[in-house]
Amino acid sequence: MFKNITGSNAAGKNNATSDESFSGTVDPTGLERAAKAARDLDSSPNAQASLALVREQEKTKQSEFEAKTAELRAYEAQQREKNIEVQAEQQRKTIEKQAEYARGQEHYRDKLERERQKDTLGMQMQAQRQMKEEERKKDEESVLRQEAIRRKTVEYETALRQQADSAKAKAEAEGRIEQERRNHDLIMQQKRLELRESRKTTLEGIRVATSSIGAGLSSFVSDREKVTTAVGGLSLAALGIYSARAGATVMGGYIGARLGKPSLVRETSRITPLSAVREPIATARKVYARFSSHNADRALDGVVLASPTKTRLQRIARATKNSRKHQAPFRNVLLSGPPGTGKTLFAKGLAKESGLEYAIFTGGDLAPLGSSAVTELHKMFDWAQTSRKGLLLFIDEADAFLRTRSSAAGATEDMRNALNAFLYRTGQPTTRFMLMMATNRPHEFDEAAADRVDDVIPFSLPGPEQRREMLNLFVNRLIRRPATPIKLLGDEPWDQFWDEAVGGTEHFSGREMEKLVIGWQAAGYGNPTAELAVDEARQVLRDHVHQKDMKESWALSQRQEGNRPPGYQGSRSVERTGADANRELYTAA
Ligand SMILES: Nc1ncnc2c1ncn2[C@@H]1O[C@H](COP(=O)(O)OP(=O)(O)OP(=O)(O)O)[C@@H](O)[C@H]1O
Ligand SMILES: [Mg+2]
Repeated sequence: MFKNITGSNAAGKNNATSDESFSGTVDPTGLERAAKAARDLDSSPNAQASLALVREQEKTKQSEFEAKTAELRAYEAQQREKNIEVQAEQQRKTIEKQAEYARGQEHYRDKLERERQKDTLGMQMQAQRQMKEEERKKDEESVLRQEAIRRKTVEYETALRQQADSAKAKAEAEGRIEQERRNHDLIMQQKRLELRESRKTTLEGIRVATSSIGAGLSSFVSDREKVTTAVGGLSLAALGIYSARAGATVMGGYIGARLGKPSLVRETSRITPLSAVREPIATARKVYARFSSHNADRALDGVVLASPTKTRLQRIARATKNSRKHQAPFRNVLLSGPPGTGKTLFAKGLAKESGLEYAIFTGGDLAPLGSSAVTELHKMFDWAQTSRKGLLLFIDEADAFLRTRSSAAGATEDMRNALNAFLYRTGQPTTRFMLMMATNRPHEFDEAAADRVDDVIPFSLPGPEQRREMLNLFVNRLIRRPATPIKLLGDEPWDQFWDEAVGGTEHFSGREMEKLVIGWQAAGYGNPTAELAVDEARQVLRDHVHQKDMKESWALSQRQEGNRPPGYQGSRSVERTGADANRELYTAA
């Protein structure tokens, strides 16, 4: 069969060959031979058997093929399953990858966002820093401006004072010259008269003398005792003239110290011949005060202070009075505290009630005197030294000339000399005078000046109790009992108003409390009927609180400058208190 097939192929080949020859000549013999072979095959007795065998073989082959096919299909199915699994795995991996990618993206976005926020924050902080820096610069500039204004004002004031002083000195000098010129004229006139008179007398004398001189001279020269007496007399006369001159110099100094008060002393209870002539009424008052009784406990009358300070001051007042009685050396006292807290008030009260003489001088008066400050200071101490009763020398604003001597602290040569003179005159305890000094700036004191102080009394801003007491005192003095009292309209609202005033005036000094009441007084006198309604009083209070806040903001900028004493926080910089809320009631308007 295969042969046949091969044969047929061969026949095909032959066909092809015949095909090749087809184009040319067809060979029919090939076909004939094939047909004959087929016929031979068909007629062969084994043909059927071989066909059956072939069939059988074909069947076997077919079943083998089918088994193979089934195997292949199973394999294919298996492969397909595998493929599915692989695909699923791949899909899973893809999903995972995608998820991971998405996570990465998210993370990146998050990071970006965070960095963006960081950048924004950084920019904001940078902007804030810049703003703060600008604000600080503005503050500094405003402080500098204020300082410049303050300095200008001080310079202007100093210049004005110097002008006034020099004008005064000039006027005084001119007055003196004029006086001396007049005196001179009078003296010359008198001298001329005297001269004329003496000429007459002399001429007369000469005439009388010439007649008797001849005889007199001859008797004098011949008398040895008379000559000796004359020489001795002349020597004694020379000695007398010399002693008189020296004595006159010493007396001159003494009289100079006693006659008038030194120019540095602003106010004194001492009576001097010159003051008696110039100010007779004031002198009469001083004489009256001198003979009226003194009571050290009254030194604190009208001074409102917290109890501990009051007790200390009372003790000092009594000790001062007793020192004088027992001729013991005086103690030197320093009163320190914010402005307007009653330092000068107490010192004056003590001066009057201690039974001592007193003199008040202000440290600030020394600087304009320049190089003559030292001389004036010595004059004042000379004058103080002559007090027989003991003198309370009150130096107000003492820091103005007792501040540290180092030139780094801005002290001028003249001021250093003045301070040295002061130190020299106060080095030893004395029974002649007592020093009482007041200052707002104790920390600026020269070390040696501070060493002269035996007692330091700190004065502080009044608390609520003291403010109430002050209101009472000043309202009685200025509203209820002046020459023309002011009528407070309505009763009820005032009780509540006094409480409001006490709460609203936190950090006010005694001086500011007094000014507030003077403000009410002015409002009362502003009405023709001299009446004051509570609403008007409240408005005045608001104005004063507002002004106080303004002053404090100035003080605050000064403190930023760093020239504010520690412990003098003043007020507004301290933390809010309950009373602040009350104050807001007033500042709001
Ligand atoms: N503690 C107080 N009690 C009663 N009145 C006071 C008190 N403090 C101040 N005053 C009033 O304020 C005025 C000024 O006070 P004072 O001259 O004594 O202040 P200061 O402490 O000397 O201030 P500065 O340091 O500015 O010289 C006084 O005349 C008085 O009317
Ligand atoms: Mg004072």
